[in-house]
Amino acid sequence: MSSKKLRACISGVHGYVPDYILTNSELETLVDTSDEWIMTRTGIKERRILKGEMQGTSVLGVKCVKGLLEKTNTDPKDIDLIICATVTPDMLFPSTSNLIADKVGATNSYGFDISAACSGFIYALSTGSQFIEAGTHKKVIVVGADKMSSIIDYTDRKNCVLFGDGGGAVLLEPSKDETGIQDYLLRSDGSGGDMLCLKAGGSLRPASIETIKNKEHYIYQEGSSVFKFAVTNMADISEEIMNKNNLNSDDVAYLVPHQANKRIIDATAKRMGVGPEKVLLNIEKYGNTTAGTIPLCLWDYEKKFKKGDNLILAAFGGGFTWGSLYLKWSYNN
Ligand code: UT7
Repeated sequence: MSSKKLRACISGVHGYVPDYILTNSELETLVDTSDEWIMTRTGIKERRILKGEMQGTSVLGVKCVKGLLEKTNTDPKDIDLIICATVTPDMLFPSTSNLIADKVGATNSYGFDISAACSGFIYALSTGSQFIEAGTHKKVIVVGADKMSSIIDYTDRKNCVLFGDGGGAVLLEPSKDETGIQDYLLRSDGSGGDMLCLKAGGSLRPASIETIKNKEHYIYQEGSSVFKFAVTNMADISEEIMNKNNLNSDDVAYLVPHQANKRIIDATAKRMGVGPEKVLLNIEKYGNTTAGTIPLCLWDYEKKFKKGDNLILAAFGGGFTWGSLYLKWSYNN
């Protein structure tokens, strides 16, 4: 029996964004804002919106997973587990992962959702990797997807410019070599919970005429306070995972950051000592898709990656939650 530790690797990635493009110029017609303000403060030019009746986050997840199964030539019946990171589940229950499993024909899979806001994908990826490392699961799909437009007030200029809809999914399998997920650091601080939240709709404040009148079913965020925590913690945790694994900036091929604000990403890259050529961005075209940003970024830049490339994933979000994950990319395109 080999004593070698099993490692999980990403063996495929696929993303999906809806067709409708909500541009900064269209937002200028909805609220008192400008392309100039949005670009200089956030780096966002446009975002995608899932239009139509009865279109929940599972629609995004199903597109991602179907594409992933096709691309990796995987039979849906061979999937053991689907984990979906989201804060905009179709319903509070059943889990969105369960709905996705049903719609893609993953009849031998079970699943659950992870609620960690913008850090959701890193939380879910590290969770998924442990089922592979334990040797109990062979094929695990991790989805990060959010339909943020379902909780946005399009008369609130502070928030409506920031978010968009989209998602991505990765397939995790046992690694055949030293590549794959090497390490991760996860943190949370519940004392920051009320600075970025959805106030109503849970057991604390179930939906009522009052919660609707108060617009409590829309995202609430104290932007500049969250910004300060995000800048510090995302940079700290990215530096910490590098130090812990004896990586210097030359060893890092790419930073794959959560895409909430270009200024937060720049601060993280600066602290890591990596130049802009190593920082993967798609905030300009999708905005903040919450759990969707990192897998969407992996999908957008997949062709750039070479086997053995060291990637650092990093995120900060509601909760507060934050984390970083170090992986060695496992395949060439
Ligand atoms: O992904 C999860 C974690 N979330 C984040 O990481 C978001 C963190 N926060 C941020 O990215 C930034 O704080 C924002 C982009 C949300 C806001 O940028 P800011 O530089 O912190 O601006 P601010 O909130 O301090 O607002 C500055 C001014 C205010 O006007 P007054 O009070 O100074 O007159 C706002 O009312 O900008 C105003 N403002 C806007 N102006 C034009 C706020 N939103 C807009 C807007 N268009 N859309």
